[in-house]
Amino acid sequence: MREKRFYINTIGCQMNVHDSERISALMQRCGYRQIPFPEGADLIFLNTCAIREKAEQKVFSFLGRLAALKKRNPDLIIAACGCVAQQEADRIFERTAHVDLVLGTHSYGRLPKIIEEIHRNRRRIVDVDVGESIEEIRTFFSQKTADKAPGVSRFVTIMQGCDNFCAYCVVPFVRGRERSRDPEEIISEIQDLVAAGVREVTLLGQNVNSYGKKEGISSFSELLARINTIEGLERIRFTTSHPKDLSDDLVAAFGRLDKLCRHIHLPVQSGSDRVLSRMHRRYTRAHYIDRVKALRLVCPDISITTDFIVGFPGESEDDFQETLSMMAVVEFDSLFAFKYSDRKGTRAAGLMEKVPESIKTERVKTLFKFQRDVTLKKYRALVGTFQEVLVDGLSKKTQKQTDSSGPEGIQWTGRTLGNKIVNFRVKGGSPFQDVVYPGALVRVHIKQAFANSLVGEAPECRPGRFEEIRRKHSCCIK
Ligand code: 5AD
Ligand code: SF4
Repeated sequence: MREKRFYINTIGCQMNVHDSERISALMQRCGYRQIPFPEGADLIFLNTCAIREKAEQKVFSFLGRLAALKKRNPDLIIAACGCVAQQEADRIFERTAHVDLVLGTHSYGRLPKIIEEIHRNRRRIVDVDVGESIEEIRTFFSQKTADKAPGVSRFVTIMQGCDNFCAYCVVPFVRGRERSRDPEEIISEIQDLVAAGVREVTLLGQNVNSYGKKEGISSFSELLARINTIEGLERIRFTTSHPKDLSDDLVAAFGRLDKLCRHIHLPVQSGSDRVLSRMHRRYTRAHYIDRVKALRLVCPDISITTDFIVGFPGESEDDFQETLSMMAVVEFDSLFAFKYSDRKGTRAAGLMEKVPESIKTERVKTLFKFQRDVTLKKYRALVGTFQEVLVDGLSKKTQKQTDSSGPEGIQWTGRTLGNKIVNFRVKGGSPFQDVVYPGALVRVHIKQAFANSLVGEAPECRPGRFEEIRRKHSCCIK
Protein backbone atom coordinates (compact mmCIF):
# COMPACT_ATOMS: atom_id res chain seq x y z
CA MET A 1 0.00 0.00 0.00
CA ARG A 2 1.27 3.48 -0.86
CA GLU A 3 2.50 5.56 2.04
CA LYS A 4 -0.09 8.14 3.13
CA ARG A 5 0.91 11.77 2.82
CA PHE A 6 -0.26 14.95 4.47
CA TYR A 7 0.24 18.66 3.95
CA ILE A 8 -0.26 21.47 6.50
CA ASN A 9 -0.80 25.11 5.68
CA THR A 10 -0.46 27.33 8.74
CA ILE A 11 -1.89 30.82 8.85
CA GLY A 12 -1.33 32.85 11.97
CA CYS A 13 0.67 33.29 15.12
CA GLN A 14 3.51 31.24 16.66
CA MET A 15 0.96 29.38 18.73
CA ASN A 16 -0.57 28.07 15.51
CA VAL A 17 2.83 27.30 14.02
CA HIS A 18 3.62 25.26 17.09
CA ASP A 19 0.28 23.45 17.06
CA SER A 20 1.05 22.54 13.45
CA GLU A 21 4.40 21.09 14.49
CA ARG A 22 2.62 18.87 16.96
CA ILE A 23 -0.15 17.88 14.57
CA SER A 24 2.64 16.95 12.20
CA ALA A 25 4.44 14.85 14.84
CA LEU A 26 1.16 13.12 15.66
CA MET A 27 0.41 12.29 12.02
CA GLN A 28 3.95 11.04 11.44
CA ARG A 29 3.51 8.73 14.38
CA CYS A 30 0.33 7.45 12.67
CA GLY A 31 2.43 6.50 9.64
CA TYR A 32 1.82 9.57 7.45
CA ARG A 33 4.62 11.46 5.68
CA GLN A 34 4.59 15.25 5.49
CA ILE A 35 4.94 16.84 2.06
CA PRO A 36 5.57 20.52 1.33
CA PHE A 37 2.67 21.06 -1.12
CA PRO A 38 -1.02 20.10 -1.23
CA GLU A 39 -0.89 18.29 -4.57
CA GLY A 40 -0.57 14.55 -4.03
CA ALA A 41 -1.59 14.67 -0.36
CA ASP A 42 -4.15 12.26 1.11
CA LEU A 43 -4.86 14.63 3.94
CA ILE A 44 -4.68 18.43 3.93
CA PHE A 45 -4.78 20.51 7.08
CA LEU A 46 -5.41 24.20 7.16
CA ASN A 47 -4.43 25.49 10.58
CA THR A 48 -5.82 28.95 11.04
CA CYS A 49 -5.82 32.06 13.16
CA ALA A 50 -8.93 34.12 13.92
CA ILE A 51 -7.32 37.00 15.70
CA ARG A 52 -7.85 39.49 12.90
CA GLU A 53 -10.26 39.56 9.99
CA LYS A 54 -7.57 39.34 7.32
CA ALA A 55 -6.42 35.90 8.45
CA GLU A 56 -9.99 34.69 8.28
CA GLN A 57 -10.37 35.85 4.67
CA LYS A 58 -7.22 33.89 3.76
CA VAL A 59 -8.82 30.76 5.21
CA PHE A 60 -11.81 30.82 2.90
CA SER A 61 -9.70 31.67 -0.10
CA PHE A 62 -7.31 28.73 0.55
CA LEU A 63 -10.17 26.30 1.21
CA GLY A 64 -11.83 27.47 -2.01
CA ARG A 65 -8.72 26.61 -4.00
CA LEU A 66 -8.74 23.05 -2.64
CA ALA A 67 -12.06 22.26 -4.34
CA ALA A 68 -10.25 21.35 -7.58
CA LEU A 69 -7.95 18.88 -5.79
CA LYS A 70 -10.91 17.21 -4.14
CA LYS A 71 -12.61 16.84 -7.52
CA ARG A 72 -9.57 15.01 -8.86
CA ASN A 73 -9.21 12.87 -5.75
CA PRO A 74 -12.53 12.29 -3.93
CA ASP A 75 -10.68 10.29 -1.21
CA LEU A 76 -8.73 13.37 -0.17
CA ILE A 77 -9.53 14.47 3.40
CA ILE A 78 -9.58 18.22 3.97
CA ALA A 79 -9.40 19.40 7.56
CA ALA A 80 -9.78 22.96 8.82
CA CYS A 81 -8.38 23.42 12.30
CA GLY A 82 -7.23 26.16 14.65
CA CYS A 83 -8.94 29.28 15.90
CA VAL A 84 -11.10 30.08 12.87
CA ALA A 85 -12.31 26.51 12.85
CA GLN A 86 -13.17 26.75 16.53
CA GLN A 87 -15.22 29.86 15.94
CA GLU A 88 -16.61 29.40 12.46
CA ALA A 89 -17.27 25.67 12.32
CA ASP A 90 -20.78 25.91 10.87
CA ARG A 91 -19.92 28.65 8.41
CA ILE A 92 -16.95 26.62 7.09
CA PHE A 93 -19.16 23.60 6.47
CA GLU A 94 -21.84 25.70 4.82
CA ARG A 95 -19.48 27.66 2.58
CA THR A 96 -17.12 24.84 1.62
CA ALA A 97 -18.86 21.57 0.77
CA HIS A 98 -15.53 19.79 0.14
CA VAL A 99 -14.22 20.22 3.72
CA ASP A 100 -14.49 16.91 5.64
CA LEU A 101 -13.39 17.91 9.09
CA VAL A 102 -13.52 20.99 11.27
CA LEU A 103 -11.32 20.61 14.30
CA GLY A 104 -11.24 23.13 17.15
CA THR A 105 -8.15 24.10 19.10
CA HIS A 106 -9.12 21.75 21.94
CA SER A 107 -9.59 18.64 19.86
CA TYR A 108 -6.13 17.89 18.48
CA GLY A 109 -5.58 15.05 20.94
CA ARG A 110 -8.47 13.17 19.32
CA LEU A 111 -7.16 13.60 15.78
CA PRO A 112 -6.03 10.02 15.04
CA LYS A 113 -9.40 8.60 16.14
CA ILE A 114 -11.30 11.16 14.07
CA ILE A 115 -9.28 10.50 10.90
CA GLU A 116 -9.92 6.81 11.29
CA GLU A 117 -13.64 7.49 11.62
CA ILE A 118 -13.70 9.57 8.41
CA HIS A 119 -11.82 6.84 6.53
CA ARG A 120 -14.26 4.24 7.75
CA ASN A 121 -17.56 6.05 7.30
CA ARG A 122 -16.72 8.95 4.97
CA ARG A 123 -18.82 11.32 7.01
CA ARG A 124 -18.19 14.99 7.71
CA ILE A 125 -17.14 15.71 11.28
CA VAL A 126 -17.15 18.86 13.36
CA ASP A 127 -15.25 18.59 16.61
CA VAL A 128 -15.00 21.91 18.38
CA ASP A 129 -15.81 20.55 21.80
CA VAL A 130 -13.98 22.52 24.48
CA GLY A 131 -14.68 19.88 27.11
CA GLU A 132 -11.50 18.01 26.19
CA SER A 133 -10.32 15.90 29.08
CA ILE A 134 -7.17 16.89 30.96
CA GLU A 135 -5.65 13.63 29.73
CA GLU A 136 -6.23 14.55 26.08
CA ILE A 137 -4.80 18.04 26.58
CA ARG A 138 -1.77 16.54 28.29
CA THR A 139 -1.22 14.03 25.49
CA PHE A 140 -1.23 16.73 22.87
CA PHE A 141 0.91 19.09 24.95
CA SER A 142 3.52 16.44 25.48
CA GLN A 143 3.69 15.57 21.81
CA LYS A 144 7.41 15.61 21.10
CA THR A 145 8.25 17.78 18.15
CA ALA A 146 11.95 16.98 17.95
CA ASP A 147 12.85 15.32 14.69
CA LYS A 148 15.94 14.53 12.67
CA ALA A 149 16.56 18.12 11.60
CA PRO A 150 15.13 20.22 14.39
CA GLY A 151 16.93 23.42 13.43
CA VAL A 152 18.59 25.92 15.72
CA SER A 153 15.57 27.49 17.34
CA ARG A 154 12.26 25.97 18.43
CA PHE A 155 9.00 26.96 20.10
CA VAL A 156 7.90 25.31 23.31
CA THR A 157 4.35 25.88 24.50
CA ILE A 158 4.24 26.44 28.24
CA MET A 159 0.61 27.47 28.57
CA GLN A 160 -2.60 27.62 26.59
CA GLY A 161 -5.56 29.97 26.65
CA CYS A 162 -6.16 33.32 28.28
CA ASP A 163 -8.31 34.65 31.13
CA ASN A 164 -7.93 38.34 30.37
CA PHE A 165 -10.84 39.02 28.03
CA CYS A 166 -9.50 42.18 26.44
CA ALA A 167 -12.52 43.77 24.80
CA TYR A 168 -11.34 43.27 21.21
CA CYS A 169 -9.86 39.78 21.52
CA VAL A 170 -11.20 36.44 20.44
CA VAL A 171 -8.45 34.35 22.06
CA PRO A 172 -10.24 33.53 25.35
CA PHE A 173 -13.16 32.26 23.28
CA VAL A 174 -11.20 30.15 20.82
CA ARG A 175 -8.36 28.99 23.06
CA GLY A 176 -10.32 28.71 26.29
CA ARG A 177 -9.16 29.43 29.83
CA GLU A 178 -5.53 29.60 30.90
CA ARG A 179 -3.90 26.23 31.56
CA SER A 180 -0.20 25.87 32.37
CA ARG A 181 1.89 22.90 31.52
CA ASP A 182 3.79 20.93 34.11
CA PRO A 183 7.33 22.39 34.58
CA GLU A 184 8.95 18.93 34.59
CA GLU A 185 7.45 18.18 31.19
CA ILE A 186 8.62 21.51 29.79
CA ILE A 187 12.17 20.96 31.06
CA SER A 188 12.23 17.45 29.66
CA GLU A 189 10.98 18.61 26.24
CA ILE A 190 13.69 21.30 26.12
CA GLN A 191 16.36 18.80 27.15
CA ASP A 192 15.27 16.54 24.29
CA LEU A 193 15.35 19.43 21.84
CA VAL A 194 18.83 20.45 23.00
CA ALA A 195 20.03 16.85 22.64
CA ALA A 196 18.73 16.96 19.05
CA GLY A 197 20.77 20.10 18.31
CA VAL A 198 18.47 22.99 19.24
CA ARG A 199 20.27 26.00 20.76
CA GLU A 200 17.44 28.45 21.39
CA VAL A 201 13.88 28.01 22.65
CA THR A 202 11.01 30.46 22.57
CA LEU A 203 8.53 29.78 25.35
CA LEU A 204 5.02 30.32 24.09
CA GLY A 205 1.82 31.34 25.78
CA GLN A 206 -0.85 34.02 25.39
CA ASN A 207 0.27 35.57 28.65
CA VAL A 208 3.43 33.81 29.76
CA ASN A 209 3.98 35.92 32.83
CA SER A 210 0.94 34.49 34.53
CA TYR A 211 2.39 31.01 33.99
CA GLY A 212 1.64 28.61 36.81
CA LYS A 213 -0.23 31.17 38.95
CA LYS A 214 -3.60 29.44 38.77
CA GLU A 215 -2.19 25.98 39.30
CA GLY A 216 0.28 27.19 41.93
CA ILE A 217 2.98 25.06 40.30
CA SER A 218 5.78 27.55 39.75
CA SER A 219 6.11 31.19 38.83
CA PHE A 220 7.28 32.15 35.36
CA SER A 221 10.57 33.52 36.67
CA GLU A 222 11.20 30.29 38.60
CA LEU A 223 10.58 28.33 35.40
CA LEU A 224 13.00 30.59 33.52
CA ALA A 225 15.65 30.10 36.20
CA ARG A 226 15.34 26.31 35.84
CA ILE A 227 15.50 26.42 32.05
CA ASN A 228 18.54 28.67 32.32
CA THR A 229 20.46 25.76 33.88
CA ILE A 230 19.88 23.37 30.95
CA GLU A 231 23.27 22.48 29.63
CA GLY A 232 23.81 23.02 25.92
CA LEU A 233 20.95 25.50 25.64
CA GLU A 234 22.31 28.90 24.66
CA ARG A 235 19.31 31.22 24.49
CA ILE A 236 15.84 31.59 25.95
CA ARG A 237 13.12 33.80 24.52
CA PHE A 238 9.47 34.08 25.44
CA THR A 239 6.29 35.61 24.12
CA THR A 240 3.79 37.16 24.84
CA SER A 241 3.79 39.18 28.05
CA HIS A 242 0.97 41.28 29.45
CA PRO A 243 2.12 44.64 30.87
CA LYS A 244 -0.16 44.30 33.91
CA ASP A 245 1.55 41.04 34.93
CA LEU A 246 5.16 42.05 34.32
CA SER A 247 6.46 41.51 37.86
CA ASP A 248 9.62 42.99 39.37
CA ASP A 249 10.82 39.43 39.63
CA LEU A 250 10.58 38.90 35.90
CA VAL A 251 12.20 42.27 35.22
CA ALA A 252 15.08 41.21 37.49
CA ALA A 253 15.45 37.96 35.51
CA PHE A 254 16.77 40.01 32.59
CA GLY A 255 19.71 41.03 34.72
CA ARG A 256 20.18 37.66 36.38
CA LEU A 257 19.79 34.93 33.78
CA ASP A 258 22.63 34.79 31.29
CA LYS A 259 20.69 32.81 28.66
CA LEU A 260 17.64 35.06 28.65
CA CYS A 261 17.74 37.14 25.48
CA ARG A 262 17.65 40.88 25.83
CA HIS A 263 14.31 41.27 24.14
CA ILE A 264 10.74 41.54 25.31
CA HIS A 265 7.59 41.74 23.25
CA LEU A 266 5.22 43.76 25.40
CA PRO A 267 2.00 44.63 23.56
CA VAL A 268 0.75 48.06 24.64
CA GLN A 269 -2.19 48.39 22.16
CA SER A 270 -2.74 52.13 22.77
CA GLY A 271 -1.10 55.15 24.35
CA SER A 272 -4.39 56.61 25.56
CA ASP A 273 -5.68 55.80 29.04
CA ARG A 274 -9.25 56.27 27.86
CA VAL A 275 -8.79 53.67 25.10
CA LEU A 276 -6.82 51.29 27.34
CA SER A 277 -9.64 51.34 29.82
CA ARG A 278 -12.26 50.69 27.10
CA MET A 279 -10.08 47.86 25.83
CA HIS A 280 -10.14 46.42 29.35
CA ARG A 281 -6.36 46.17 29.43
CA ARG A 282 -6.19 46.91 33.15
CA TYR A 283 -3.07 49.10 33.13
CA THR A 284 -2.42 52.74 32.42
CA ARG A 285 0.01 54.49 30.16
CA ALA A 286 2.02 55.51 33.26
CA HIS A 287 2.23 51.88 34.42
CA TYR A 288 3.50 50.76 31.02
CA ILE A 289 6.15 53.51 30.96
CA ASP A 290 7.17 52.56 34.50
CA ARG A 291 7.71 48.91 33.38
CA VAL A 292 9.80 50.06 30.44
CA LYS A 293 11.96 52.15 32.76
CA ALA A 294 12.39 49.22 35.15
CA LEU A 295 13.43 46.93 32.27
CA ARG A 296 15.93 49.45 30.95
CA LEU A 297 17.37 50.00 34.39
CA VAL A 298 18.15 46.31 34.76
CA CYS A 299 19.15 45.80 31.15
CA PRO A 300 19.98 49.08 29.37
CA ASP A 301 20.24 47.57 25.89
CA ILE A 302 17.04 45.53 26.09
CA SER A 303 15.09 45.54 22.88
CA ILE A 304 11.40 46.35 23.41
CA THR A 305 8.84 45.56 20.73
CA THR A 306 5.09 45.97 20.87
CA ASP A 307 1.66 45.71 19.23
CA PHE A 308 -0.74 48.60 18.65
CA ILE A 309 -4.34 48.52 17.54
CA VAL A 310 -5.53 51.65 15.74
CA GLY A 311 -9.15 52.61 15.29
CA PHE A 312 -10.55 50.83 18.34
CA PRO A 313 -14.24 51.88 18.64
CA GLY A 314 -14.39 55.43 19.98
CA GLU A 315 -10.67 56.18 19.38
CA SER A 316 -10.55 59.96 18.80
CA GLU A 317 -7.85 61.97 17.07
CA ASP A 318 -6.60 63.00 20.54
CA ASP A 319 -6.39 59.35 21.60
CA PHE A 320 -4.38 58.59 18.50
CA GLN A 321 -2.03 61.50 19.25
CA GLU A 322 -1.50 59.91 22.69
CA THR A 323 -0.43 56.72 20.92
CA LEU A 324 2.11 58.66 18.84
CA SER A 325 3.40 60.44 21.93
CA MET A 326 3.76 57.06 23.70
CA MET A 327 5.85 55.87 20.77
CA ALA A 328 8.04 58.95 21.11
CA VAL A 329 8.48 58.42 24.86
CA VAL A 330 9.26 54.69 24.73
CA GLU A 331 11.11 54.46 21.40
CA PHE A 332 10.24 50.85 20.58
CA ASP A 333 12.79 48.85 18.62
CA SER A 334 10.04 47.75 16.28
CA LEU A 335 6.32 47.14 16.39
CA PHE A 336 3.29 45.59 14.80
CA ALA A 337 0.22 47.76 14.24
CA PHE A 338 -3.18 46.46 13.30
CA LYS A 339 -6.36 48.12 12.18
CA TYR A 340 -9.07 47.18 14.66
CA SER A 341 -11.46 44.55 13.30
CA ASP A 342 -14.69 43.36 14.92
CA ARG A 343 -14.44 39.79 16.22
CA LYS A 344 -17.69 37.96 16.83
CA GLY A 345 -18.58 37.50 20.48
CA THR A 346 -16.14 40.08 21.85
CA ARG A 347 -17.28 43.06 23.91
CA ALA A 348 -15.84 45.60 21.45
CA ALA A 349 -17.92 44.17 18.60
CA GLY A 350 -20.98 45.54 20.40
CA LEU A 351 -19.50 49.02 20.95
CA MET A 352 -20.87 51.94 18.94
CA GLU A 353 -18.67 54.71 17.53
CA LYS A 354 -16.86 52.50 15.02
CA VAL A 355 -13.95 54.33 13.40
CA PRO A 356 -14.28 54.56 9.60
CA GLU A 357 -11.93 52.33 7.59
CA SER A 358 -10.36 55.33 5.82
CA ILE A 359 -9.35 56.88 9.16
CA LYS A 360 -7.92 53.56 10.40
CA THR A 361 -5.85 53.32 7.22
CA GLU A 362 -4.65 56.89 7.60
CA ARG A 363 -3.68 56.33 11.26
CA VAL A 364 -1.86 53.09 10.65
CA LYS A 365 0.14 54.78 7.87
CA THR A 366 1.06 57.70 10.15
CA LEU A 367 2.09 55.28 12.87
CA PHE A 368 4.36 53.22 10.61
CA LYS A 369 5.93 56.36 9.14
CA PHE A 370 6.69 57.62 12.64
CA GLN A 371 8.16 54.26 13.70
CA ARG A 372 10.31 53.82 10.60
CA ASP A 373 12.67 56.59 11.73
CA VAL A 374 12.84 55.28 15.31
CA THR A 375 13.63 51.73 14.16
CA LEU A 376 16.31 52.97 11.80
CA LYS A 377 17.81 55.05 14.61
CA LYS A 378 17.91 51.95 16.86
CA TYR A 379 19.52 49.84 14.14
CA ARG A 380 22.03 52.57 13.25
CA ALA A 381 23.07 52.84 16.89
CA LEU A 382 24.46 49.31 16.58
CA VAL A 383 26.80 50.14 13.70
CA GLY A 384 30.37 49.82 14.95
CA THR A 385 29.44 47.55 17.87
CA PHE A 386 30.11 43.83 18.26
CA GLN A 387 27.00 41.67 18.62
CA GLU A 388 26.67 38.03 19.58
CA VAL A 389 24.78 36.31 16.77
CA LEU A 390 23.23 32.86 16.89
CA VAL A 391 23.62 31.57 13.35
CA ASP A 392 20.39 30.32 11.73
CA GLY A 393 21.88 29.29 8.40
CA LEU A 394 22.87 30.70 5.05
CA SER A 395 21.43 34.10 4.16
CA LYS A 396 18.69 34.26 1.55
CA LYS A 397 21.14 35.89 -0.82
CA THR A 398 23.62 33.01 -0.54
CA GLN A 399 20.87 30.41 -0.86
CA LYS A 400 19.95 31.93 -4.22
CA GLN A 401 23.59 32.07 -5.38
CA THR A 402 24.70 29.22 -7.58
CA ASP A 403 28.38 29.74 -6.87
CA SER A 404 29.63 30.76 -3.44
CA SER A 405 33.31 30.39 -4.20
CA GLY A 406 33.66 33.91 -5.68
CA PRO A 407 34.99 36.96 -3.83
CA GLU A 408 31.52 37.49 -2.31
CA GLY A 409 31.80 34.13 -0.55
CA ILE A 410 29.21 32.79 1.82
CA GLN A 411 26.88 35.07 3.72
CA TRP A 412 25.31 33.79 6.93
CA THR A 413 22.26 34.94 8.79
CA GLY A 414 21.31 34.94 12.45
CA ARG A 415 19.87 37.03 15.25
CA THR A 416 21.32 39.23 17.97
CA LEU A 417 20.33 38.87 21.62
CA GLY A 418 17.91 41.73 20.93
CA ASN A 419 16.29 39.67 18.11
CA LYS A 420 17.62 41.75 15.23
CA ILE A 421 18.51 39.96 12.01
CA VAL A 422 22.17 40.14 11.03
CA ASN A 423 23.57 39.03 7.68
CA PHE A 424 27.32 38.61 7.79
CA ARG A 425 30.39 37.21 6.12
CA VAL A 426 33.52 35.89 7.76
CA LYS A 427 36.53 38.13 7.19
CA GLY A 428 38.52 36.93 4.19
CA GLY A 429 41.18 34.39 5.07
CA SER A 430 40.13 34.25 8.71
CA PRO A 431 41.29 31.08 10.44
CA PHE A 432 37.76 30.93 11.80
CA GLN A 433 36.19 30.66 8.34
CA ASP A 434 35.10 27.08 8.99
CA VAL A 435 33.65 27.49 12.45
CA VAL A 436 30.47 29.19 11.32
CA TYR A 437 27.55 26.82 11.04
CA PRO A 438 23.86 26.81 12.01
CA GLY A 439 23.81 26.86 15.81
CA ALA A 440 27.18 28.59 16.23
CA LEU A 441 27.50 31.72 18.35
CA VAL A 442 29.51 34.30 16.47
CA ARG A 443 30.75 37.74 17.45
CA VAL A 444 29.87 39.99 14.54
CA HIS A 445 31.16 43.48 13.88
CA ILE A 446 28.16 45.50 12.65
CA LYS A 447 28.98 47.56 9.58
CA GLN A 448 25.66 48.71 8.15
CA ALA A 449 22.03 49.18 9.18
CA PHE A 450 18.92 48.77 7.05
CA ALA A 451 15.24 49.17 7.95
CA ASN A 452 14.84 45.58 9.17
CA SER A 453 18.29 44.06 9.29
CA LEU A 454 21.95 44.63 9.99
CA VAL A 455 25.00 43.71 7.93
CA GLY A 456 28.29 42.77 9.51
CA GLU A 457 31.55 40.90 9.39
CA ALA A 458 32.76 38.18 11.71
CA PRO A 459 36.39 38.56 12.64
CA GLU A 460 36.31 35.72 15.09
CA CYS A 461 34.04 33.01 16.46
CA ARG A 462 34.05 30.66 19.38
CA PRO A 463 35.38 27.53 17.76
CA GLY A 464 34.73 23.95 18.68
CA ARG A 465 31.64 24.41 20.83
CA PHE A 466 29.09 22.49 18.85
CA GLU A 467 31.00 19.84 16.99
CA GLU A 468 27.96 17.61 16.78
CA ILE A 469 25.81 20.27 15.07
CA ARG A 470 28.66 21.06 12.76
CA ARG A 471 28.69 17.49 11.62
CA LYS A 472 24.94 17.43 11.20
CA HIS A 473 24.91 20.55 9.09
CA SER A 474 28.03 19.79 7.12
CA CYS A 475 25.97 20.16 3.94
CA CYS A 476 25.75 23.91 4.59
CA ILE A 477 29.47 24.35 5.10
CA LYS A 478 31.25 24.35 1.83
N1 5AD B 1 -8.42 43.73 15.77
C1 5AD B 1 -7.17 44.16 15.47
N2 5AD B 1 -6.08 43.68 16.07
C2 5AD B 1 -6.24 42.73 17.01
N3 5AD B 1 -5.33 42.08 17.77
C3 5AD B 1 -6.01 41.21 18.55
N4 5AD B 1 -7.33 41.29 18.32
C4 5AD B 1 -7.50 42.24 17.37
C5 5AD B 1 -8.63 42.79 16.71
N5 5AD B 1 -9.86 42.40 17.00
C6 5AD B 1 -3.90 42.32 17.74
C7 5AD B 1 -3.37 42.83 19.10
C8 5AD B 1 -2.61 41.64 19.61
C9 5AD B 1 -2.11 41.01 18.33
C10 5AD B 1 -1.65 39.60 18.43
O1 5AD B 1 -3.21 41.11 17.45
O2 5AD B 1 -2.50 43.89 18.88
O3 5AD B 1 -1.55 41.99 20.49
FE1 SF4 C 1 -6.23 38.49 23.90
FE2 SF4 C 1 -5.88 40.16 25.93
FE3 SF4 C 1 -5.55 37.53 26.28
FE4 SF4 C 1 -3.76 38.89 24.83
S1 SF4 C 1 -4.18 39.18 27.02
S2 SF4 C 1 -4.69 36.91 24.30
S3 SF4 C 1 -5.05 40.42 23.83
S4 SF4 C 1 -7.45 38.58 25.78
